Amino acid sequence: MKFTDSPVIELSVHDTRLSFQQDNGSMHVGTSVWPCSLVLVKFIERWLAVPADDTNPNPYASLLNFTGKRGVELGTGCGVAAMGLYLLGLHEIVLTDIAPVMPALKRNLKRNKPVLKKTLKTAQLYWENKEQIKLLKPPFDFVIATDVVYIEKTVGPLIQAMEGLLSDNGVVLLGYQLRSPEAHKMFWEMCVEVFDVDKIPHEHLHPDYAYEETDVYVLRRKKKMDP
Ligand SMILES: C[S@@+](CC[C@H](N)C(=O)[O-])C[C@H]1O[C@@H](n2cnc3c(N)ncnc32)[C@H](O)[C@@H]1O
Repeated sequence: MKFTDSPVIELSVHDTRLSFQQDNGSMHVGTSVWPCSLVLVKFIERWLAVPADDTNPNPYASLLNFTGKRGVELGTGCGVAAMGLYLLGLHEIVLTDIAPVMPALKRNLKRNKPVLKKTLKTAQLYWENKEQIKLLKPPFDFVIATDVVYIEKTVGPLIQAMEGLLSDNGVVLLGYQLRSPEAHKMFWEMCVEVFDVDKIPHEHLHPDYAYEETDVYVLRRKKKMDP
């Protein structure tokens, strides 16, 4: 399914259906649902369903082991990725965004409460705000972000927020789409300075949620070299 301006976007996760009310007419991009979020959730759902055994190893079995792990989503918008990951087993997760997006997020959390069976944690987080980062009590095992690279001036703060929140052995799960060539160039130049970057092969994405323009990346902190 491509990005659509229909007022409600649905996403099935296992046997559950999440439903998001979006407002494409608002001034804030976070009140819309963006395809990267759906692609990330469906990629994870696909590989969690593949049993790991010796004859047919699942390359993502260890990456997607959510048991006892903590996650935080940056720029969650309507909350699609975080709610999807919660249903897929990442049970401790905080959804963050800027203040004007919070009403849309809270509306969608309430809308999905019957299937989530609880209200997930939310917090205001502007990537440039170090105090807000500290209040979240890092480190986190997973930092989730989908479609967050589109303005040059927020690229530096975004990468610093990822670094500030991620544990030493933690993983950033990034749904990515090129939005601005300038922000794209800056993001990847800065990213490779601090993270090892793996791109998920397109054929590993969920076949119904694999769009040419949308990718999933896994970022891990670069290990410090011994002096
Ligand atoms: C294109 S939307 C993506 C929303 C959601 N992740 C999705 O994929 O549907 C980008 C999100 O990043 C958030 N964002 C942009 N700049 C931010 C900043 N400086 N601090 C925190 N969030 C920011 C926006 O509010 C918005 O929710």
